[in-house]
Amino acid sequence: MMEGSSSLSPTTQRLAGKVAVITGGASGIGAATARLFVQHGAKVVIADIQDALGLSLCDSIRSFASDSVNFVHCDVTSDSDVGAAVDAAVAKHGRLDIMFSNAGIPGSPAISILDLNRADLENVFNVNVFGAFNCAKHAARVMIPARKGAIIFTSSVVSVTAGMGPHPYTASKHAVVGLAKNLCVELGEFGIRVNCVSPYGVLTPMLAKHIGLYDKEVGERLISESGNLKGAVLEEEDVAAAAMWLASEESKYVSGLNLVVDGGYGTTNPGFVEAVKRL
Ligand SMILES: NC(=O)c1ccc[n+]([C@@H]2O[C@H](COP(=O)([O-])OP(=O)(O)OC[C@H]3O[C@@H](n4cnc5c(N)ncnc54)[C@H](O)[C@@H]3O)[C@@H](O)[C@H]2O)c1
Repeated sequence: MMEGSSSLSPTTQRLAGKVAVITGGASGIGAATARLFVQHGAKVVIADIQDALGLSLCDSIRSFASDSVNFVHCDVTSDSDVGAAVDAAVAKHGRLDIMFSNAGIPGSPAISILDLNRADLENVFNVNVFGAFNCAKHAARVMIPARKGAIIFTSSVVSVTAGMGPHPYTASKHAVVGLAKNLCVELGEFGIRVNCVSPYGVLTPMLAKHIGLYDKEVGERLISESGNLKGAVLEEEDVAAAAMWLASEESKYVSGLNLVVDGGYGTTNPGFVEAVKRL
């Protein structure tokens, strides 16, 4: 993670003058995106339930870009919290250009359908799906009158590759892609683009806790060895860069895309080759 990086010169900033809300912005992918967006000239509202972490991230970002970031406590499962986060961005900066609906949880690591716990299923859907709906609704509320905007959801590689994650998580991330595509149709009429970014494994606090692996070196080796693209490890900043492209004018005609950032993992199925090797 880049700490205390300075802003870029105005000519190289790709989000100059834009205003963004980033949910789940206190940690992991959301935090890296908040830093990158600010470096590229955006004003960012970090919306998260981890207040202490969000506030300390704001302090660290303000050290190189004062008045460019603020934190609001926001539980994405709450319609009114998300509405208030959007209203805070509009009140402070006059508009909303980018909604990065990124907050998510993995839920219980249980894999078998026989172990399915209804409360866990509801919990995962509340955050990952209903949270995404809340973000979309409140972003659209202010973007439609402005007749422009970019809504980006964090889905996952599990939206294109089955068997990697628990059923509720996988189903929730498919739902997010479905929502994005349907919204792209409705909101295209108003000049609003809607896309997803879908990463492969990134060793964020969420993944570390989910797989019980806290050693950065071992975790990154696991991700690298299991990945398709060798010689590279997917990091938060790589996902942030994909989100920035979707948020910027560089993707001005891109909508309805599920931008999979997985080094080609989703295209592979090494089962046959592995079985042949074992013969
Ligand atoms: N890390 C990975 O390997 C990976 C892979 C694919 C997709 N993703 C997705 O990326 C997104 C970000 O996850 P991350 O890996 O950066 O994890 P993270 O735990 O570092 O960050 C997630 C953030 O979401 C916040 N959050 C959780 N519930 C919330 C709620 N109800 N309201 C508001 N904020 C809430 C957390 O407080 C945290 O700051 C998630 O949607 C996740 O599903 C992660």
